Formats: sequence, C-alpha cells, structure tokens
Amino acid sequence: MVSSIFVTPELSSLLADYRLPDSLEFGRELAPVMYRADYGDGQWQDAAAVPFADIPVNPASTALQFAQQAFEGMKAYQIARSYPTLFRPNRNFQRFNRSARRLCMPAVPASLFAGALSSITNLLQPFIPDGAGQSLYLRPTIFGLDPHFAVKSSARFVFLVLASPSDAYYSEPIRIVIERNNCRAAIGGTGAEKVGGNYGASLQATRKCIEQGFDQSLWLDPKSRSNIEELSAMNFMAVIDGELHTPALSGSILEGVTRDSLMTLARSLGIDASEPVMPVDELVRDIKSGRCSEAFACGTGAVISPISAIGEADGTVFELPEVNQMAAKLKNALLGIQEGRAADPFGWVVDPRDSQQLAAQLNQ
Ligand code: COI
Repeated sequence: MVSSIFVTPELSSLLADYRLPDSLEFGRELAPVMYRADYGDGQWQDAAAVPFADIPVNPASTALQFAQQAFEGMKAYQIARSYPTLFRPNRNFQRFNRSARRLCMPAVPASLFAGALSSITNLLQPFIPDGAGQSLYLRPTIFGLDPHFAVKSSARFVFLVLASPSDAYYSEPIRIVIERNNCRAAIGGTGAEKVGGNYGASLQATRKCIEQGFDQSLWLDPKSRSNIEELSAMNFMAVIDGELHTPALSGSILEGVTRDSLMTLARSLGIDASEPVMPVDELVRDIKSGRCSEAFACGTGAVISPISAIGEADGTVFELPEVNQMAAKLKNALLGIQEGRAADPFGWVVDPRDSQQLAAQLNQ
C-alpha cells in the first residue's frame, strides 16, 4: 500500500514546474520540496512536506554558535524498478539518532523519519535520475534553534529531510594525501557520529590538498598519528595480497553503511576481508613492494571511488597500479543490488512507499 500524502496546491505547482538539469553532480541540484518537523514543548510537531526554501535561523542559535547539528546521507534509487527504493535505511536511522543523542538532541521517532522519507521519495519520484550510478541523495538533518550564548543545549529543534538528484561524488579515480599534522576527530570526541563539526574540521585540509593537486585527505588516528582512519568524506579500503582491508573501528571512525555492506559483500563473494589496525607507513611500504594492488574510497555519496595515488605533503607521490579489479567487482555487486539489477540476498533494499511498513523496518 502506498501511503497517501497531502499535497498542497503550492507543492503541486512547484513539482509541475520542476525540471531536472541536463547534467548532475553530487549534491549541487536541490530538489524543490523538503520535509520539516519542529520540536518544542518536549514533542515533535507540524510534520509536513513543504517547499524547499531558506528558513529563518536566529544568529545566536545553538546550531550556529555551537554546531548542535547532525545529519545523514542516504539514497533513493529508481533504475531497474518502477518505484523508488532505499538502501538499508534502518542503519541511517539508528546512526542519526545516535548522533543526535551525542549532541544532546531529541531522537526522531521511526514514524516521523519514515513519514519524511516516504513523503519525499513519493513526491520526487518523477525526478529520481535513472542513469547508472545516479540517485536521489537524501540528507536528513537536525539542529538546535534556541538563541543563547551560554554553552547549553537548545530545547527547540528542527528536523529536515532535504533531497538532491545526484550523480556519484567523483567521476574519476581520486588522488589522496596523508594528513600528518591535523586530526579530524579526537579520542572520546564525535568522530564516530555524523555531525557537521567533523566535516567542518576537515575543510582546511581539503582546500590545501586540492591546491596541491589531490582530492581528499587521508586522516590518521588522533593518538599515535600513525594508523589510517578515514578520508574526509568517505571510508578507506585497500587490497593487500589480494585481501580486502579497511581500518578497524577505532571509536573515531565513522561506521559507514557502505563500508559495512562492502565487507559483507566481499565475504559473500569469497574474498578475504578484514578490519586490522592499518599503519600508514606499512601501506606505503606495501604500495612500493606491490603487495598493495588497489585502494579505494567508499561511502553513500561515493559508492566506490578508486584511488590512483597517495601523496605526502612534501610532494612525494606513490602511484597505485591502474587495476581496480576488486573495486570494480564490488562496485558492480553493490550497485546491482541498490539499482535493482541483481538479487538482494541480504534484504537491504526497502520500499519506502508505505510509511508504516518503513517505520517498522527502521527499528530492525
Ligand atoms: C555520504 O557519503 O553520504 C556522506 O554523507 C559523506 C559526505 C558527502 C558528507
């Protein structure tokens, strides 16, 4: 059953006039509708799909002053099916509420999260791009509204689901640089949560690495500054002696949904996959000796982006062989499931059209 959605004349006319641009990038095009709910007096209220627009935010709000904010990245696909599907939305829902709790924000109930996803994917169904690797990127977001300069939590919050018809994050293999000075996350900090502050902390390094001809920084652990953690916007994987390795969750790494899905898929395809501590100097030695044949970035936005080179700030660059066999195999297997071209043995693909059914699945 498809949940019925109340569509105001304003929304219908916005949607009737909307056209997808000729070319898409990742997250540039913003869909004309969003979902909004407000939290006050201890409860969520006024949940509805509304036109996408600027919203008034007090300059002294806790979101702007103290980064009291969290978000998720998810995708709706409609390629080989006639209706949209979501990929493991329960993982995003549960992580969203973990992130919210870490920043002292109220949990979003499954019924509200599901209602928002169901409503936005149904309304935007005609605009879910259907090229290979394309999707409707969804950005559930929560932030604090109360204006005050004392460092304490807001009591009022906004929950939004924003949407962006998107292509993959990168269209070409990427070049990454080892960040040996700054850290993106601290021990006991918020690195494992999806909060804006983690990404804000990576922006300076990203700008610097782009100036040096790279795309992303490779972050090391905050204590020893020697073990690989993740990239600025994605998890990291490498193929060493034919085995798939990704850094063990250290408490300051984001537990990516794509990361977990790829490890599960790899094992199901008979590939040895492990999560060791990965000293960056060992990786460099393995690249030089040829033991490391591939490396790639993975995430909801990126899916899989092969890495063609790993550099140091002093200008040394270690090129990776242009094989990407494992990356291509895993990407094809994952996208096959996500896009509905292949069987889904893990039950990862979810139909969001019935919001009550979706709500029940979010808690699993
Ligand atoms: C994603 O891959 O979906 C992310 O959320 C990472 C980044 C785009 C912020």
